[in-house]
Amino acid sequence: MRDLSSIPATKPDLDAYEVDHLFHSWAYQPKQSPARVVSAKGVRFMTEDGRERLDFSSCFVSHNIGHQDPRVVKAIKDQADTLTSFAPPFSNRPRALLAKLLEEVTPGDLSRAFLTVGGTEANEAAIKICHQFTGRRKIVSRYRSYHGGTATSMSASVGDPRSWAQVPGGAEIIRVPQPYPYRCMFGTTNPTDCAMRCVAYTDQVIEMEGGREKVAGIILEPIAGANGVIVPPPEYLPALRAVCDKHDILMIVDEVMTGFGRTGKWFAVDHWGVVPDILTMAKGMTCGYVPLGAAVVRKHIGDYFKDHFFSHGATYAGHALACATANAVIPIYQQDRLVENAATMGAYLVERAQTLAETHPSVGEVRGLGLFVGIELVRNRKTKEPLIPLDAKIRPGANPKTELAKRLFELGMICMAANPSNSIALAPPLIITKDEIDEGIAMLDEALQVTDAYAER
Ligand SMILES: Cc1ncc(COP(=O)(O)O)c(C=O)c1O
Repeated sequence: MRDLSSIPATKPDLDAYEVDHLFHSWAYQPKQSPARVVSAKGVRFMTEDGRERLDFSSCFVSHNIGHQDPRVVKAIKDQADTLTSFAPPFSNRPRALLAKLLEEVTPGDLSRAFLTVGGTEANEAAIKICHQFTGRRKIVSRYRSYHGGTATSMSASVGDPRSWAQVPGGAEIIRVPQPYPYRCMFGTTNPTDCAMRCVAYTDQVIEMEGGREKVAGIILEPIAGANGVIVPPPEYLPALRAVCDKHDILMIVDEVMTGFGRTGKWFAVDHWGVVPDILTMAKGMTCGYVPLGAAVVRKHIGDYFKDHFFSHGATYAGHALACATANAVIPIYQQDRLVENAATMGAYLVERAQTLAETHPSVGEVRGLGLFVGIELVRNRKTKEPLIPLDAKIRPGANPKTELAKRLFELGMICMAANPSNSIALAPPLIITKDEIDEGIAMLDEALQVTDAYAER
C-alpha cells in the first residue's frame, strides 16, 4: 500500500476515486463525482466551488440542531481525548448516562435501550426483540414504508421499490395499507374514513394471520417519511394501538426520521398520546455528528430479558464517542427550545408551502407536521396522475424530480428529493428562521417551473 501522503489528491484525482472505488447508496453508480462538501454551519453548507447553499433536508432529516454546533463539537473532542470506545461488556460513563436520558425523554414506561449504529440496525434489533419476547414470527408492515437497508428492515419496507430487489429477510412480513387520504387504497377522500378502514383491515388481517398465536407485532412510521411525508389522520394511531392490545401484539414505532422534535413534539407519537411497545430512533439523536441509533422498549419487555437470554449484540453497542455526542445533543433541544421552534416554524413552513400549490400546476398536495413537509407532484391535479412513476427511483436516467433537485441546487438549496416517492420533502434544521424559510420558498417557487413544464394545465 502507498503511504496516504503519496496518493495524488487534486480535485480530478478525488473525483476519479469517487467514481471508480466507491459504492453510492441506492443509485446507478455515477459517471461523475457528486459535488464535494467542505464545510457546514447552522442551516447552510459550502461546496468545493466556494458556494454556500441552504439545507432544507437536514441531511436525510438528521441534522436537527443544525450543522457544526460548537457545543457538540467540543463534547466530541473532549470524549475523544478520554475514551473513544471500549468493548460493550464493560460500562462507560456516557453510555450509562444516555440510557437514563433516553428513559427521561421517551413517552410512557419506555425504559430500556439497545444502542445501535443507526436507524436500520435499530429496527433490526426491534424486530428481533419482538420475535424473542413473543415467540412468534409474523410482523405486520404497511405499504409505502421505509425501515432500513438490511435484509429484515428492507423486507419490512413494503411498497418501496428499493425493496423489490430484496430476498425476504429474518421475518415473515404481512402487508397492510396505511391511511393516505390523498390516494386512499379504499377509494375514499375522507381522512377519518380512510384511517378507520385501514385500521379495520389491519385488525382482520391480524386475526386471519393467527393473531396472538402467530403475529409478533406491527412496525410503522408514525409519518411515512421517504415514501411521501404521509401524515395520518388523528384517529389512526390510537385506534391501531387498541388493535395491537386486542390481539396482544407489539407495536414498534419507527421514529428514526420523526423523532427528536422534528414534528413539533419530542416524538411524533406524542401528538396522539400513544405509547409504543418499542420505539426506534437514530438521526436526531446525535444529529449525525457521530452515528448512533436505539431501540427502546417498555418496562415489561425490558424486564423479560432479566431472566431470558437477549440474543442480539454488536461490537459498537454503546460506543462511548457516539453516546457522549447524544448526551451533548439531546439537552440542546430543551435549552434552545427547538421542539417549540419546530412547531411554530413548521406551521409557517406549511402555510408558505401551501402558497406554491396555488400557483404551480405540478403541486398536487402540500401536507406536513412541524418542520416535516411533503409536496406531492402530479401531472394532472384533477386526476391526481403522479408526476413520477413508482419505479422511477430504480430506473436509469433523469426524471422530473431529479431535474427539480438539480435546478434547486443551481439556485442555492437542497431538499429531500432523492427518495422514491412522488413527493419532495422539506425538512430544514429546527433552528430555521422565518427569513430562511422565505428564502427557501422563493427558490422552490422558481424551481417548480421545471416540474410545471410536465404538468397539464
Ligand atoms: C423511517 C426510517 N427508518 C429507518 C431508516 C434507516 O436509518 P439509517 O439510514 O440510519 O440506517 C430511515 C432512513 O432514512 C428512515 O427514514
